[in-house]
Amino acid sequence: MTNNIIIFIHLVAAGVAIGSLTYTLLLFLPAIQKIPQPKTAEEHSVTYKALEILAPTVFVCVIVLIGSGIYFLMENYANQVNLKAGYYNLFGIKMIFVIAAFFLSVYSAFSLRASIAHLDLVPENRALVPRVTKKMQSFGTLSLGAITLAAFLGVWLARF
Ligand code: HEM
Repeated sequence: MTNNIIIFIHLVAAGVAIGSLTYTLLLFLPAIQKIPQPKTAEEHSVTYKALEILAPTVFVCVIVLIGSGIYFLMENYANQVNLKAGYYNLFGIKMIFVIAAFFLSVYSAFSLRASIAHLDLVPENRALVPRVTKKMQSFGTLSLGAITLAAFLGVWLARF
């Protein structure tokens, strides 16, 4: 039962991360950017708001994935001894993508997003918004790739 709950949490976090990145970066923003945007303050633009919510959402999902993944291994460490050769090679490759996803999401949430936060208090940073939001979209796309590959390797691990 515990394993079912841990893997359920692991899968929900992977689903939210991949789903929110795919929807925002591949569907919503390309569609919204084709429509002429009303001239408003930078912090009220749709792109700014979407990316402002996306970055911490992905970061939290990656943290939940790491926490639930480690908890799964701790719960099952006795059963992990007799696994087929190659399981931990696959696991190691998965961890490369997890580490990449972690640092990409930390950079987006705590460096890029923070550099254009509180624009009412630091209005001079409004000039940074177009460049930083573009960067957040590029780093988000890289995160999406890393998380998707980690998910594929996870599915492979579960059936190894
Ligand atoms: C970006 C981060 C991650 C993603 C997207 C991800 C995704 C997945 C997915 C989709 C599965 C398949 C579950 C199933 O089909 O039952 C899985 C399995 C697994 N994950 Fe992750 N995972 C991530 C991070 C981690 C981390 C950090 C660890 C451990 C430290 C971990 C450990 C595992 C293990 C051991 C399995 C295999 C479970 C089994 O043998 O049934 N994962 N992962």
